[in-house]
Amino acid sequence: MNPNPSPFFNSITKKYLMAASGFVLAGFVMVHMLGNLQVFLGQDALNAYAYKLQSIPAVLWGFRLVLLVATVTHVLTAISLVRENRAARPTSNGHEKFVQASTGSRTMGLSGSILFAFIVFHVLHYTVRLTHPEYNQIEHYVLAESQKHVHDVYTMIIMGFEVKWISALYIISMALLCLHLTHGVSSIFQTLGLRNSSWKPRLDALATSYGWIVFVGFVSVPISVLAGVVK
Ligand code: HEM
Repeated sequence: MNPNPSPFFNSITKKYLMAASGFVLAGFVMVHMLGNLQVFLGQDALNAYAYKLQSIPAVLWGFRLVLLVATVTHVLTAISLVRENRAARPTSNGHEKFVQASTGSRTMGLSGSILFAFIVFHVLHYTVRLTHPEYNQIEHYVLAESQKHVHDVYTMIIMGFEVKWISALYIISMALLCLHLTHGVSSIFQTLGLRNSSWKPRLDALATSYGWIVFVGFVSVPISVLAGVVK
């Protein structure tokens, strides 16, 4: 019996939605990671960049809306696919069929859930600054070129990562992001039907490299702050 009668929302559609939303989110993390690396160009460069991102409200809110829709789509389709897989597993006599979820797909659920919690914390930490309202007291920075008074994101990042447990939390979360991206990016190739036997090794290597590049790029910031390289 088909537990999912709608032809428009069957498991194939869900897999495409999962891949499309995952593609948007994976693209976002790369762009965000590259943006964060501007911390190595100095206080003025990072603050000017952060200000530019915030200065056109229509662009900022449009971008936030796309991220929110992608996140909600990704989480809901993941939950729905997991439920569908579980429902398909038990047989009529109550024994489970020998269809084991791979280690990769099992860690996807766990790493995805922890990452979701991390993103909520991260937004409350650096964007809303609810967990650390003292970041709102940081003196405004005057940009060299425009002389605009802007929020000092550079000092905020240093204050944040000087606290060891916060750096540790970010580094562990980035390791989970690396794991999630490695499996996730190769799943996108799988859904698109590109992961055939001749392309599989190359696409898997590409997915692994993607995860590691994002990991190294992100963790370089807290590690450099802790090491006193960025101050
Ligand atoms: C070391 C790692 C990271 C650093 C230093 C960092 C830094 C920041 C900062 C400073 C902001 C606030 C920008 C501002 O208010 O001007 C921000 C916002 C944000 N970050 Fe990160 N981030 C990191 C990792 C991540 C990761 C891994 C994700 C997602 C998986 C992420 C998702 C977001 C989101 C969704 C926002 C809110 C964007 C907005 O709507 O304004 N960040 N990040």
